[in-house]
This record gives sequence, structure tokens and C-alpha cells, in this order.
Amino acid sequence: MAVHVTAAEPAHAEEQLDLESLELQLLLEGIYRRYGFDFREYAHASLKRRVWRRVHAERTGTIAGLLERVLHEPEAMERLLIDLSVNVTSMFRDPTFYGAFRQKVAPLLHTYPFTRIWAAGCSTGEEVYSLAILLQEEGLYDRTRIYATDINETVLDRARNGVFPIEKMQEYTENYIRAGGTRSFSEYYVAKYEGARFDRSLTENVVWAPHNLVQDGPFNTFHVILCRNVMIYFDRALQNRVHTLMYDSLERFGVLALGHKESIRFTGYESKYEELDTAERIFRKAK
Ligand SMILES: C[S@@+](CC[C@H](N)C(=O)[O-])C[C@H]1O[C@@H](n2cnc3c(N)ncnc32)[C@H](O)[C@@H]1O
Repeated sequence: MAVHVTAAEPAHAEEQLDLESLELQLLLEGIYRRYGFDFREYAHASLKRRVWRRVHAERTGTIAGLLERVLHEPEAMERLLIDLSVNVTSMFRDPTFYGAFRQKVAPLLHTYPFTRIWAAGCSTGEEVYSLAILLQEEGLYDRTRIYATDINETVLDRARNGVFPIEKMQEYTENYIRAGGTRSFSEYYVAKYEGARFDRSLTENVVWAPHNLVQDGPFNTFHVILCRNVMIYFDRALQNRVHTLMYDSLERFGVLALGHKESIRFTGYESKYEELDTAERIFRKAK
């Protein structure tokens, strides 16, 4: 007997079964159940773009085809993971942010005998090296420990290595000067054939470790948390949960720094912080 299979009839246009979204949900569920990485609450619009890039690169034709590949080939999962965790970063990214940090956060840090700073979602480390330079110049580095974490171990390896493309140095020098840097930026690195190798002293007080903001809990308390350009990829519910993690991980009067396009509005935590610098998204835990 022949069985006819047809797609479910949508009751309303808005309920139209969106196959692409269904495949994406299945992919994210598959990744979670097979590998434990939970991307299910990342903002779907930008996830879709990145997943399609991998579909084309792997030539699987569909997202469902990609699901089959990543389920059976862990190497394909590693490649997809690199695509899913957008790692774009730079040294002294948003120089005005570092200028504000120098002016408004550094004086606060001088009031503590020792400080712990968490750079969450630090990618390949440019942010951490920038922070270390700033802290050295402010005379704070020797009494600071920076915990630099990311979900992606591949980027952490590059961060530990501390070698960045030499052709970026002009841009980074300009950023450094705009961020209030007063020395010669080239003092901080030596040009080697593989790139610009940054001074080892900059990472003496840095602990690099994998940490997943979605699934891992608090691991210490901090005087400053930088979580810049990470939550922008999360949907609202997930942003709220990560804000709970940030809040719980901050010391009283601790400082939280977000990216320029990120906010604490509508997170439930707006009233628990005061703004240290509105434009630069720097907040101080008030209660
Ligand atoms: C665009 S980069 C931002 C890097 C740096 N903070 C900056 O502002 O230049 C976003 C980083 O967040 C990391 N990331 C994404 N999801 C994460 C998660 N659930 N837990 C920890 N890090 C995550 C990515 O691997 C990526 O390195």
C-alpha cells in the first residue's frame, strides 16, 4: 500500500513551517547532545549566516546535511565551532573605552591592595594584552591577576602564544595612542618572522582557561569583569542568565564593562549598577 507523505498543513501563514529554522534547531540540538556545546539560545539570525557559510564550505547542500556531518565527524564540529564563535577582535579595540578605563577605573583599582580581573570571551587575547599594557603603565599590573577565558580552546592557544600579525601593528599603534598610551607601542613587541611577539612580562599575571558562559558557573569573584562583544550574539533570555553570572561574580562595587552595542537595559540588573561611563558601557555594582 502506498503511503503519501506531505508537509504539515500550516493553519496560518505565520505558522508556516520554516524548514530552515527547523533544520537549524535540529543542528543546535544535535551539537548539544553529541558534543555538549549549547548554542541553542544564541541569536538565530546571525547563527544562520554563519552556519550557511559552513554548509557551503563543507558542500553539504543543506543545514540538515551539515548536521549529519558534524554528528559523525568531530573534525567537522571543530571547524563549525570556529565559525560559530565569532572571534573578531583587535588591540585597544574602541580606543575611547580604554581611555575611559584609564581615567575612571584605574583610580578605583589603586584603592585595592590586589585585584582580580576577568576577561570573559577574550578570543585570541588582543584585549588581554591591551589591558596588561594599560595596567603596567598605570602601575597596577604587579598587583593584578587577569583571568582570561573563552569557550574556544583554539583561540586560547593563539592568545597564550602572544604572536599577532605584524601588518596589524600600525593600526594597533594608532589605537594605543588614541587610548591614551604614552610610550612607543613598539616597546611591547619584537618583530619575528612569524609576527609581532609580545613581551612575556605582559602575561606573567594572566591565567588562560576555557570557560563557557552558557554552561559553566562562577569560579571566583572579581573587581572588574570585561565581557565585551560577546553577549551581542546571545538571545535576550541567555543575556539575562549571563548577567546573573556576571553580577554574582562581581565584588561589591566591582566594575562591569560591556561592548559598545551591549546594554544592561531590560536585563533585570539595571537598578543594581550605577553608570561609570554611559557611552563606554562601564558600570559599577551598587548593591
Ligand atoms: C567577538 S569576540 C570578542 C572578543 C573580545 N572580547 C573583544 O571585544 O574584542 C567574541 C568571543 O566570545 C566567545 N564566546 C562565544 N560564546 C561564548 C560562550 N558561551 N562562553 C565564552 N565565550 C564565548 C567567542 O569564542 C569569541 O572569542
